[in-house]
Amino acid sequence: MQYTYLTEDIRQKIDKYLNTFPVKEQVIIQALHLIYSKYRDIELPHMEELSNYIQVPLNQIEGIVHFYDMFRVKRNARHHIRVCKNLPCHIMGCKKLLELFEKLTNEKANEESKHGRFYIETVECIGACSVAPAFMIDDDLYDGTKITEEKLNEILSKYT
Ligand code: FES
Repeated sequence: MQYTYLTEDIRQKIDKYLNTFPVKEQVIIQALHLIYSKYRDIELPHMEELSNYIQVPLNQIEGIVHFYDMFRVKRNARHHIRVCKNLPCHIMGCKKLLELFEKLTNEKANEESKHGRFYIETVECIGACSVAPAFMIDDDLYDGTKITEEKLNEILSKYT
């Protein structure tokens, strides 16, 4: 099949997720993040291609898109940080992680970006509970289990 929206790069990343995540729902969430990052929206043709590519019913993908508001957030900065605040990540210290992000970026979570470089958003689940507290910067997923201020600063410096 010819894909219009799932570029080769996106398909390669999805293949990696298929080999990494044991649960298809996690693959769907990560794939939707990729699509959202590229097109800043998720529409029916995107979902149809994804459904075809990973062989899951379209209504399962639509259900996830409707459940997760994060796919509708409009960015006002060059980079979009998502910090999961759902229970497993909460238990593993997402509050501290969020405070670090706010300190290092000089931005407030869920508020319009002041400097235009980072927009920080708290989200419900990014499908990476095994590396809680999990976070994403654009479409890069990070393991927050051993994060320190120094390490986070180093990560942030990659996003200019
Ligand atoms: S609960 Fe945080 S990634 Fe799922």
